[in-house]
Amino acid sequence: MDHFTYQHGELCAENVPIRRIAEAVGTPFYAYSTATLHRHVQVLREALSPLSPMLCFAVKACPNIAVLRTLAAAGMGADVVSGGELFRARKAGINPENIVFSGVGKTREEIDYALEEGIRQFNVESASELALLNECALKKNVKAPTALRINPDVDAKTHAKISTGKKENKFGISMRSARLLYAETAKMEGISVQGISMHIGSQLTSLAPFEEAYSRVREFVVELRAAGHTIRTLDIGGGLGVPYRDGDVPPLPADYGRMIAGIFSGLDIELICEPGRLIAGNAGILITRVVHLKENEGRHYAVVDAGMNDLMRPALYDSHHDIIPVMAATTALSAFDVVGPVCESSDVFMKDTMLPVLHAGDLLALRTAGAYGASMSGSYNSRPLTPEVLVNSDQFAVIRARQGYEEMLRGETFAPWQSP
Ligand code: LLP
Repeated sequence: MDHFTYQHGELCAENVPIRRIAEAVGTPFYAYSTATLHRHVQVLREALSPLSPMLCFAVKACPNIAVLRTLAAAGMGADVVSGGELFRARKAGINPENIVFSGVGKTREEIDYALEEGIRQFNVESASELALLNECALKKNVKAPTALRINPDVDAKTHAKISTGKKENKFGISMRSARLLYAETAKMEGISVQGISMHIGSQLTSLAPFEEAYSRVREFVVELRAAGHTIRTLDIGGGLGVPYRDGDVPPLPADYGRMIAGIFSGLDIELICEPGRLIAGNAGILITRVVHLKENEGRHYAVVDAGMNDLMRPALYDSHHDIIPVMAATTALSAFDVVGPVCESSDVFMKDTMLPVLHAGDLLALRTAGAYGASMSGSYNSRPLTPEVLVNSDQFAVIRARQGYEEMLRGETFAPWQSP
């Protein structure tokens, strides 16, 4: 459920007409709903309540600091994968005690920064990273709270580009190697082992892969404890899918929660969960304006002012985002290809989407764009970054301003041998 609904014939975010925001901010822009973010946190928290895990929002899904602050106020911590994300989480006021650091390529600088901040846990993904973490911690005379990220070799049955838990993926450490590494940590004075982590993929639409992976990891926890290791925390990752269109029925959070309780209760372990899409996906929409209508060889195009640089998912994963008119349809529907202005044939949001009679200047909304939308946007074709707006009941605020051309060029200079 979300809070983007038609009221008096026009699409509103909570109680604010989208048209009003578009007049104030221009288009395109992302709009997020505070009430929807809150609701998603609450639904997940209730679903997982028997084990009450620490909920660490996967910052990569929607890293705007105002969104992070909203989630922090709702009690979420953060799962970060870079120094930049850690910086955002801290700026948003998230307590380092509630921050875990994942990712395969942590650099020395990023590790030093996270050690200085005193984060909750490093989810380590290789022997090389473990050695570097140990070295950095020793230099600072601290112990790095560490979990090894296990690759359980489970097929998440999701899009190949967002699957992370098969042995051929670059993520995590096989159980065989992890056994040896856990043993080696005994000699590492800078490492304090506290747990295990995992994440098998994103947009999972069935519980079976989770169940298989979690069951394997449960057995592994028991084995490691028997071998004398301290395994206090278990980070189960994120990945639960969300509906992108009518008829999509991803697993209910409540069923996910029951499955987790069934597998892990009695293990006496502190769970950490890293949801991203589940929290932010349906809490955000992308608003765009029709710039031109065009007919070519029988196809009808609506050329809009948002492009693949603003929302990359359709071009990158062939993903579906429902497109709806901001003013409720009053005419018969017909098929349009909704396309952006970017000079790439892949800059198509959707083919043959059914929309009412359109005119240049009409507003459209792409739904379920709150996760991996703005966060993956760029300025390809020198299109400045799109603004973001946060709505809260009958108020709205710009939480990322539209980038101007001068700003877009910030940092670029002529070489000294070129005339200024
Ligand atoms: N934890 C780790 C270690 C992750 O790598 C991810 C996502 C998450 C948690 C959050 O997963 P979620 O709950 O959002 O499924 N750009 C792609 C998604 C990439 C996901 C990467 N990792 C997309 O637009 O579908």
